[in-house]
Amino acid sequence: MFCLALLAVPGYGQGVTGRWVIPGRTLDNGEQQKTILELKQDGSALTGTLATMGFSADVKGTVTGNHFELFGPWGPQRPFLVGDLVNGELHGKEGGRREIVATPAGPEDTIPTVAYIAPPALHQVPYNGLAKTPPMGWNSWNLFAGKIDDSTVRTMADAMVSSGMRDAGYVYVNIDDTWEGVRDAEGNIQSNHKFPDMKALADYVHSKGLKLGIYSGPGPRTCAGYPASYGHEAQDANTFAFWGIDYLKYDLCSGGSIYKNDQLPAVYQKMGDALEATHRPIVFSLCEYGLDNVEKWGGDVGGNLWRTTGDIRDAWQSMMDNIEKQVPTAPYAGPGHWNDPDMLEIGNGHMSDDEYRSHMSLWALTASPLLAGNDIRSMTDATKAILLNKEVIAIDQDALGKQASPVKNGDLETWVKPLADGGAAVGVVNLGSSAAQATVNAADLHLAHKVKKARDLWAHTDVKFTDGAYTASVPSHGVLLLRVSAK
Ligand code: GLA
Repeated sequence: MFCLALLAVPGYGQGVTGRWVIPGRTLDNGEQQKTILELKQDGSALTGTLATMGFSADVKGTVTGNHFELFGPWGPQRPFLVGDLVNGELHGKEGGRREIVATPAGPEDTIPTVAYIAPPALHQVPYNGLAKTPPMGWNSWNLFAGKIDDSTVRTMADAMVSSGMRDAGYVYVNIDDTWEGVRDAEGNIQSNHKFPDMKALADYVHSKGLKLGIYSGPGPRTCAGYPASYGHEAQDANTFAFWGIDYLKYDLCSGGSIYKNDQLPAVYQKMGDALEATHRPIVFSLCEYGLDNVEKWGGDVGGNLWRTTGDIRDAWQSMMDNIEKQVPTAPYAGPGHWNDPDMLEIGNGHMSDDEYRSHMSLWALTASPLLAGNDIRSMTDATKAILLNKEVIAIDQDALGKQASPVKNGDLETWVKPLADGGAAVGVVNLGSSAAQATVNAADLHLAHKVKKARDLWAHTDVKFTDGAYTASVPSHGVLLLRVSAK
């Protein structure tokens, strides 16, 4: 009897060999996430595969007694799953944090297989005429992540108007991940219960003089695990156009486990073509974290902007890392096609006002998209003064569309952006931990003429260059931002 009971538990007696299921979250569209692990133990060596609804990968690891450690393609440095075989179950921690229990998988525990779809041949997608200056608006992800819904978007749209954000140029209201439902019998994507009527929501947002953005991706699943546009590109583009969508952020996520980096131009072109075929003006925002030098081909596949980095966090170092990572992309920014170091964190509470002024100044100097990521309904006066500084917005939106690059001098980093009127914007950011004197030399601004007028865009005062230079004190992590006009 004892032996029979043991044999009835798959996996038991063979170490960790077997098919295991780790249950995941239930998505807002009712789907239950799960991870299937197929493992084979050979002595102390472990090999196998991991599959989730949007991702599959080879894994390998080690077993010592009942203890196992599993490594994935994310890097050999750290195991992604560590645990023990306990009474025929795998008990462990994923990513050093999340407690998991893997039980033997039954026949019902399957992940739909995804057939490979070869990407199309490359061609030039015609420019859609949009985003002549960097897109401005708001996006739900940084603050709300999976907690975004129809009524939040409506109240945010109201606040975009009442706060003056819309009139300052922030017109796109962008829904990020987790709006997705399931596909209907014809394969049409539906929104989930949080967004009962996307077309009605678009009508509402439009009635406020704003535009509505949405989110999908070229893989079968989004980063949060929801259905994405793989194999449904044209159908989804048509649905978005039918709903009245004006902006699409297209996020690689699970597409990265299907396609190699050098296939990404064709993969993104597929949606670029699909959007063009709808004849609706839809800003196309590529999000593949800068892979395969997206700045070199993003415009050719119909993109108006492309992420150059991983995800920003509301922290000084993360913000600085992102802006510095996109320095090599500077030559590729220009009207209609922009480098995107990710959305703004201004007003989300984990940086000082000086740091948020640096954040805003750097995004403006680099002609980056200005997509606020905070709660527009409850902004402090300081947050409003930063996001709504019209003189700083004008630097970002300058018609010449040049992206500044930094020159480092100790703790001070100077960014110069040539402007359409022949003048320049210059920002000096203090990376150090105490206040520092910053000197801006007119000669470094490469103006064709002498300095005629200079203005401190945060102090809102005119300042004077003396002997070709201007010096001011800049607080730690703060910025001196000047607009300099030439005669
Ligand atoms: C990725 C993107 C983020 C956000 C999330 C949503 O991480 O880089 O900006 O869209 O996916 O799941």
